[in-house]
Amino acid sequence: MSPDPDAPFLQACRNLPASRVPVWFMRQAGRSLPEYRAVRGSGSILAAVQDPDLATDITLQPVRRYGVDAAILYSDIVVPVAALGFGVEIHAGVGPVVAEPFRDESDLDRLRPLDPEADCPYVQQTVRNLVGELGDVPLIGFAGAPFTVASYLVEGGPSRTLGKTKALMLGRPDLWGRLLDRLADIAIASLRAQVDAGASAIQLFDSWAGTLSPAMYERHVMPASAKVFAALADRDVPAIHFGVTTGELLPLLAKAGASVVGVDWRVPLDEARARLGPDVAVQGNLDPAVCLAPWPAVEAAALEVLAANGGRPGHVFNLGHGVLPETDPAILERLVDLVHGWEAPR
Ligand code: CP3
Repeated sequence: MSPDPDAPFLQACRNLPASRVPVWFMRQAGRSLPEYRAVRGSGSILAAVQDPDLATDITLQPVRRYGVDAAILYSDIVVPVAALGFGVEIHAGVGPVVAEPFRDESDLDRLRPLDPEADCPYVQQTVRNLVGELGDVPLIGFAGAPFTVASYLVEGGPSRTLGKTKALMLGRPDLWGRLLDRLADIAIASLRAQVDAGASAIQLFDSWAGTLSPAMYERHVMPASAKVFAALADRDVPAIHFGVTTGELLPLLAKAGASVVGVDWRVPLDEARARLGPDVAVQGNLDPAVCLAPWPAVEAAALEVLAANGGRPGHVFNLGHGVLPETDPAILERLVDLVHGWEAPR
């Protein structure tokens, strides 16, 4: 069986009416699931991603448990740059760590073009496995947006202020532009390979874009992300653009070329829609921390999200950011049932 072209998730991404509000969760595969902890072992996540059988199994875990409307490939935003040998590791509880951060022109040589078949064939193999296993459930492929990936390469690891990143952006705009252009090309190669292997939609994760003012985003970041969306247009798959604390950036995230814009919990969906206009779909936006509360509180907050969208077509229910590891899977299970059973008041 192949993915249903009219699956609720794809219909909502196209801003068209769907048979129900579709729902999936960022980080739905991960440490909140006992079955994930059981198979994951203690090695690096980058090693797990390189094992297509394991990565396939992990991707399917939340689909089986929750009945979510989409699967998301088990991988990470730093997989392509790690595959190129930039020297990136992911430390548990920390995130991506780079031994020799990006500093000057000579570091551009460490970011040669990505050849997915030679550099990371395991990613495409996992996608092909999944398309065979998922039946009519669509698979989302993804990449890190140039800015968010650059932030790890420049900072050397997670950073609250992104001070080095912004200093490079403003102090060496030419070098910054070349860095982002390389990372855009890498994201394009990776996303094209995932779609050509069978992914039905793509998501560009610009998680930390919200640290930027609209002016800085538009000038120094948007051109590279827009290049990614433009290069995927011929594949004709829905493209989701995601970041956190992006309330002030929402119109620009759409302008970059996305068909769906991710919204975090800081902006109610009716307000997000007012900022975005009628032509884009929205994804979100329950606060992941709410899912740590008892069910009645989760239910009330989820109903508020649904009511804020008010039954308009083009809503993909999700959290405003990834599932927290301490989340009880039973809560997410009830949340999926709630969203699936919800009907817009007439
Ligand atoms: O289920 C899914 O969402 C698919 C898999 C996925 C992972 N990372 C697996 C992962 C996706 C889509 C990502 C994207 C990603 N990676 C982002 C963008 C989304 C976001 O959260 O903003 C970012 C910023 C990264 C970088 C990264 N990788 C971080 C910050 C961490 C967390 C570190 C930690 O241990 O808390 C990782 C590691 C990581 N990537 C885990 C998972 C399931 C957890 C560690 C593990 O299981 O080994």
